[in-house]
Amino acid sequence: MKIASNELQALQPARPLAFDVGRLRGDFPILARRVHGQPLVYLDNAATSQKPRAVVDAEARYYAEYNANIHRGLHCLSEEATAAYEAARDRVQRFVNAARREEIVFVRGTTEAINLVAASYGQRLRPGDEILISAMEHHSNIVPWQLLCERSGARLCVAPIDDAGQLRLDEFERLLGPRTRLVAVTHVSNALGSINPVAELVALAHAHGAAVLVDGAQAVPHLKVDVQALDCDFYAFSGHKLYGPTGVGVLYGKAALLDAMPPWQGGGDMIRQVSFARTTYNDLPYKFEAGTPNIAGGIGLGAAIDYVDALGLDAVAAHERDLLAYATARAADTPGLRLIGTAAAKAGILSFVVDGVHAHDVGTILDRAGVAVRSGHHCAMPVMERFGVPATVRASFALYNTRAEVDALFAALARVREVFA
Ligand code: ALA
Repeated sequence: MKIASNELQALQPARPLAFDVGRLRGDFPILARRVHGQPLVYLDNAATSQKPRAVVDAEARYYAEYNANIHRGLHCLSEEATAAYEAARDRVQRFVNAARREEIVFVRGTTEAINLVAASYGQRLRPGDEILISAMEHHSNIVPWQLLCERSGARLCVAPIDDAGQLRLDEFERLLGPRTRLVAVTHVSNALGSINPVAELVALAHAHGAAVLVDGAQAVPHLKVDVQALDCDFYAFSGHKLYGPTGVGVLYGKAALLDAMPPWQGGGDMIRQVSFARTTYNDLPYKFEAGTPNIAGGIGLGAAIDYVDALGLDAVAAHERDLLAYATARAADTPGLRLIGTAAAKAGILSFVVDGVHAHDVGTILDRAGVAVRSGHHCAMPVMERFGVPATVRASFALYNTRAEVDALFAALARVREVFA
């Protein structure tokens, strides 16, 4: 099979580059724009991150130069598109250190990955079985399990978090029992920033015979993830928070588990042989990839991984740690601001409330100053309930943010105080 010549360069091993935030900001065309007459300060990266030109170009090249369906045509364009898409799968495999490329299933995003596991792996659950999640989960790691419980008669158990927003490990362990079949936990909380000790949770769950799904949507842009070292059974993440396109994501699953699981959607590509009497299914990972996928998105995700790999996630993480520490110190000096989520281990998320001002009003005033944050419940209503707030303001950092942008955030927050004084 030929590889599209324009994708060959992307297949070369990543070259570590010096981490120079001033230079790399130039790779993101959108960062040059203005909002309400102000320079854009984009601090809503946990919702979606901006895309480097390499990602935009990789998608555009596919459409402009070799657009064709994959795994179907014998013609040149189809072979080139198939090669580029499958090369992206190889890049994802290396990125998370999966043992085999068959363990990488392309999906629409984290939500779809979790729903796939609930629909397929979930078929083995019986009445009285238990699914254990944590109190810091995103709705997409709660609701699919509630739906599965309704279908199967299983029970949903929730491990609590402490006042800093950290998982209560003692309670987590206490809730693991002989009926626990599945544990589903986030690696990094989208609402609080807390980093969970996933390897430890996996070891505890496995000691009780439970499989573990990790929601890695907020982790992969910030931490080096090694699914073999974590020993998790499933790991889900989205492309668009990792500087890649929307509408594409990944479900990693251990081959033995995926192999034993029934397909979840029927259609093209996922079959080996179809007759009205009997249908047999394709090998992994295609058994779980019915229909024409987001081909451009997969290729774009490969380009995003190349970009991040070239910088090195360790360097990215160090830069974001510096931003978080700086922002946390500034928050401590800001009267009337209360942080929600003060875990010892945190990724670059600053969630907070301002005394006497609704988070939506804060968000609106920040927007007028060109500062984009998310205000609301962050699709984590139980977290808001745990902290007794209707909503928070969330500033979330990415590799291209700067201390000057943190200063712009706090200057705009001073304006909030003036308006509401
Ligand atoms: N789940 C994304 C967020 O936290 C959309 O904003």
